[in-house]
Amino acid sequence: MTHYQHPQDPSQLPAWQQLLKQQQVMQNFRMSDAFAADPQRFQNFSISHDGLLLDYSKNLLDETTRDLLMQLAEQSRLQSAIQALFNGEPVNASEQRPALHTALRRPIGDRLVVNGEDLIPQIHDVLNTMTEMVSRIHNGLWRGYSEKPITHIVNIGIGGSFLGPQLVSEALLPFAQQGVKCHFLANIDGSEFHELSNTLDAQTTLFVVSSKSFSTLETLKNALAARSWYLAQGGSKDCIDRHFIAVSSNIEAAVEFGIAKENILPIWDWVGGRYSLWSAIGLPIALSIGMSNFKELLTGAWSMDQHFLQAPFAENMPVILAMLGIWYSDFWGAQSHAILPYDHYLRNFTQHLQQLDMESNGKQVRQDGTTLSYPSGAVIWGGVGCNGQHAYHQLLHQGTLLIPADFIVPVVSHNPIADHHQWLYANCLSQSQALMQGKSLEQAAQELRDKGLEESEVQRLAPHKAIPGNRPSNTLVAERICPRRLGALIALYEHKVFVQSVIWGTNPFDQWGVELGKVLGKDVYQHLTGQVTAPSSDPSTQGLIDFFRNRHRG
Ligand code: F6P
Repeated sequence: MTHYQHPQDPSQLPAWQQLLKQQQVMQNFRMSDAFAADPQRFQNFSISHDGLLLDYSKNLLDETTRDLLMQLAEQSRLQSAIQALFNGEPVNASEQRPALHTALRRPIGDRLVVNGEDLIPQIHDVLNTMTEMVSRIHNGLWRGYSEKPITHIVNIGIGGSFLGPQLVSEALLPFAQQGVKCHFLANIDGSEFHELSNTLDAQTTLFVVSSKSFSTLETLKNALAARSWYLAQGGSKDCIDRHFIAVSSNIEAAVEFGIAKENILPIWDWVGGRYSLWSAIGLPIALSIGMSNFKELLTGAWSMDQHFLQAPFAENMPVILAMLGIWYSDFWGAQSHAILPYDHYLRNFTQHLQQLDMESNGKQVRQDGTTLSYPSGAVIWGGVGCNGQHAYHQLLHQGTLLIPADFIVPVVSHNPIADHHQWLYANCLSQSQALMQGKSLEQAAQELRDKGLEESEVQRLAPHKAIPGNRPSNTLVAERICPRRLGALIALYEHKVFVQSVIWGTNPFDQWGVELGKVLGKDVYQHLTGQVTAPSSDPSTQGLIDFFRNRHRG
């Protein structure tokens, strides 16, 4: 077993210092020139694994830079950090525990002994319980209070207990089982509850209260509202266990809430919320697509895990994506990264990555508590193409910010209509091409002259039409979006985030920053409801409280 070491300050490493100089050298690098000079550039700067192709040739990158980035990874002791992650060492230092989402996808028969206990049998026991539950529901053996089979599942959860399960169940809709539909209730906003409950029948609805901690305000409030709704709709009190199940690591709190013990699926403290879709938190996924497809999802992630563990860094997809991110954030000043899936079914992918990446690497200190002197996690944003092309891509093409982008697209559509998929694929590729090629002022002017415009008009319009180009992007092509590919794709980004955390020295598995807002939320609530009459600690908040109270008075 390796022993997890606190990462050092990367900015003191020789490779970091060399990269600072290399960034100066690369000021005049033009991707188009690099393609012209190297006919093998696409082959030299792309990686395939298990039906996924990563083309990273459209980046501000040459072989020297790639070598230096790989040296930075080596000097940051990435290899031993990866071993520590997979072996169950306490890589989450502030909470002194391992982060073992990778264990959740390991096949039966593997062994992973952590603190004297083999975790694999426990993981597969829970998978077996899920299989049994899912089959009872799918086969109509699990019945509601009026003996009707369950047709609607409502996952009540937020953050990692929502985003991953929602992404996957919606992305894999073409694999959905007939007869059971999954819904998601996350926000405490009563309008969300109202709109969803209006579509449901209590007799055939099963609520899955999904909360690792079983203490999350939004989830507990929604679970209470669901129970009241169920009773108000005529649901029998004696049959509550037919309509409420839970997934949690806090079994006691779930029981106290009123969930029958045999209806509680466990998760473990070594699974982080945003990494938990592979555990019983993925129950809505399994209910949507069936257990064998859920296992295929795990297999896809496991396959990416093997690639991450075994491929040399320069041929390792997560390592390459991560180091490119470091290159742009820490050496080129990029502050955001766009995620642009060209696939309707992946429309929630960006949102999932927002939590995965920003809750993990939105940190200002290293694992040992020392302050970072360099930027860490970037803002993750974006959305489904082509819609973005008619909204925010303008800024990608002509704005003043450097924003690296990941384009994600399948080769095969689940729903080919005429030539739509060819057009979708063409749009995806042409966007990264346009970002790279741009259009010089001279080209823009010539085009206007060719159209017969007066020279004064040419001079007036050309600056508006010029596009700088040389803007970086990756393109990830999946053979098609199926459980296995999706599992690999999500695991790819999990590992990217981990690699970046190792370089920055941050802890990607805690999230202390979200706690203050929760504490202050309680205080503001007490002011709003008159339980506390002393003024709030700042006049702005007090003014906003007064505005609310004045409207709700009498
Ligand atoms: O508040 C942030 C957070 O703790 C996330 O990390 C987590 O995914 C989410 O809340 C939900 O937590 P839980 O599953 O414990 O309800």
